[in-house]
Amino acid sequence: MKIGVLISGSGSNLQAIIDAIAEGSLDGEIVKVISSRPDAYGLVRASEAGIPTCSLNKDLYLDPEMANELIATEFKKAGAEYLVMAGYMRKITDEVLLAFPDKILNLHPALLPAFKGGQAIQDAFDAGVKVTGVTVHFANAEYDKGPIIAQRSVAVDENDTVETLAEKIHAVEHSLYPEVLRLISAGKVSIDISRKVRISE
Ligand code: GRF
Repeated sequence: MKIGVLISGSGSNLQAIIDAIAEGSLDGEIVKVISSRPDAYGLVRASEAGIPTCSLNKDLYLDPEMANELIATEFKKAGAEYLVMAGYMRKITDEVLLAFPDKILNLHPALLPAFKGGQAIQDAFDAGVKVTGVTVHFANAEYDKGPIIAQRSVAVDENDTVETLAEKIHAVEHSLYPEVLRLISAGKVSIDISRKVRISE
């Protein structure tokens, strides 16, 4: 499975995927990493792993259609079959969605449909929920709303701070995202006619 990864920041989930491939637990190849920011540390991780990178900047996003067209073109040129958003903080638009239909994954640090948006860990913490978690879903035109592939819960303990909760969530992300990619690469994930995800044995 040839994977293109979109990042905006630290890239710890990108690293988890790089590691899973390197240790042989995920049969795949990251063919390109595209960052929405030139200073994303994930770009360093990609270069260290010998993965080609491409970096955009905020001026480019003044024309979101053009930025998204560039992203689609670059990933197609690199031979990507699936796109993985790993902490990518920009919206993807039709230029990318139509180029990779039902082949774009997103990771969200809460149990969707609860706590959508960019501050999900803080929002869940502030709401005082006892359980939150991680969601991996297919991306579509509606933010944080595409078909859900996998979810894993994380308990919020009385002693947790938002920082310790974030650490627990990130640890779950780092195992769940490669697990989902493993299922996809084994051909076990499909979307049925009611747009629900089915995972076969
Ligand atoms: C993750 O918590 C992910 O759920 C959210 O952004 C964060 C990215 O972290 N969308 P990293 O860049 O992979 O370290």
